[in-house]
Amino acid sequence: MTDLAIIGGGPAGYVAAERAGAKGLSVTLFEKNNLGGVCLNEGCVPTKTLLYSAKVYDYARHGDKYGVTTEGATFDYGKIVARKNKVVRKLVAGIGASMKAHGVNVVKGEARITGRKEDGTLTIECNGEAYEAKNLLLCTGSEAFVPPIPGVPEAGDVIVTNREILALKERPQSIVIIGGGVIGMEFASFYNSLGTEVTVVEMLPEILGGLDGEVSVMLREVYAKRGIQFRLSCKVTEVRGNEVIYVDAEGNTASATGEKILMSVGRRAVTANLGLETIGVEMERGAVRTDAQLRTNVPNVFAAGDINGFSMLAHTASREGEVVVNNLTGTPDEMRYDAVPGVVYTNPEVAGVGLTEEQAEKSGVRYAVAKLPMAFSGRFVAENEGANGLCKVIYDPDKRTVLGVHMLGNPCSEMIFGAAMAITQGMTIAELQRVIFPHPTVSEILKETLFTIK
Ligand code: NAI
Repeated sequence: MTDLAIIGGGPAGYVAAERAGAKGLSVTLFEKNNLGGVCLNEGCVPTKTLLYSAKVYDYARHGDKYGVTTEGATFDYGKIVARKNKVVRKLVAGIGASMKAHGVNVVKGEARITGRKEDGTLTIECNGEAYEAKNLLLCTGSEAFVPPIPGVPEAGDVIVTNREILALKERPQSIVIIGGGVIGMEFASFYNSLGTEVTVVEMLPEILGGLDGEVSVMLREVYAKRGIQFRLSCKVTEVRGNEVIYVDAEGNTASATGEKILMSVGRRAVTANLGLETIGVEMERGAVRTDAQLRTNVPNVFAAGDINGFSMLAHTASREGEVVVNNLTGTPDEMRYDAVPGVVYTNPEVAGVGLTEEQAEKSGVRYAVAKLPMAFSGRFVAENEGANGLCKVIYDPDKRTVLGVHMLGNPCSEMIFGAAMAITQGMTIAELQRVIFPHPTVSEILKETLFTIK
């Protein structure tokens, strides 16, 4: 009998396994593919590796802005992909080593819940063997949602999701991206840097729907200048081979053609064949229903990561895994979904945490906005020739606490944790103003923005 059985070895599962192992629990982790889940194998890590190659190429081509000229800068797509594979292999091996170091029993295979005994013991089957556990953590993640758009099945390998696109051996000359969300914009950025003709077809009036609207507009304008074609308020109705047919806001039908078509219209929790019904785990909108402690309706059964559909982010998943382990080991803990940072790794990067201005408006809370262009940071000016950006703070004018921070400009992905910390701790504007920021750093833009608040 194991203290904690974990199904799925992504950022929720392997982090929970590490933390539980470190606290002395016996842990069995079931994983049918490579450790690391979608994030490490076909998501966060491979895409950031590709995007870094694109960034290096951009610097080489546009270095003249900084007085550095590179003649004939070029790239080798095969080498970019090979390096991405090497990075993934290295990090997957690292997780394997960490599992060993934490005494986690890793079982390679597809696990299935078979039942729950009267004393509460959970039973699981994997590779024909039976396992028993006192607690069970479900973290089987999510997969790309491919909507039933006519012509999609017939288009064959012209259509790719985030998984297949990573395995392409050659750079497509043109690509149509269905869905201008996070996945869509990261691949749009990558291929635009490498010279591919990119068209983004987005159903909503703006890209990156969940983000602060002002930031989304600014990012789109940057990429429109670089040649990406945006088809906003356009709903895809059909695919005919390489042609994507869509209807715009006025009801006109038009199309865009690409050597490849990326389907990035969202992801769905993976729950099939898991045996959830055998113990009566409740679902809500296709995902497992959980509370702030990641409990399902079944005692001692928890669900963390994309399977519960809350935020579909790796760092949410890891923190959820930690919450489960903390509660199991006597430290009361719960998730703070209001303080989950989000980043889009375009160039420039976008990062945000907490309420956006649109969400604040909609929720009816009293709020005020302070904002500054990134150019108020000397370091930003030194390192981002000709670029602009934004730092926007949404705050409660009565309690004078931070409700949200949203930024556009490099390297905001590395800065946003400070704002996440402020929201998590409920820090006041005055407390934040007393924090000493290193100079000269781009992070000082947050301090400067806070000092505009009267
Ligand atoms: P998404 O939900 O971010 O964006 C999907 C977009 O597709 C939406 O803007 C939606 O309006 C649009 N859409 C839906 N149906 C459409 C249609 N028929 N025609 C045109 N547009 C349509 O989903 P995405 O980009 O697939 O990402 C999935 C998840 O993965 C997200 O939850 C995201 O947070 C996560 N992710 C996070 C990353 C990060 O943190 N940097 C990177 C990549 C993914």
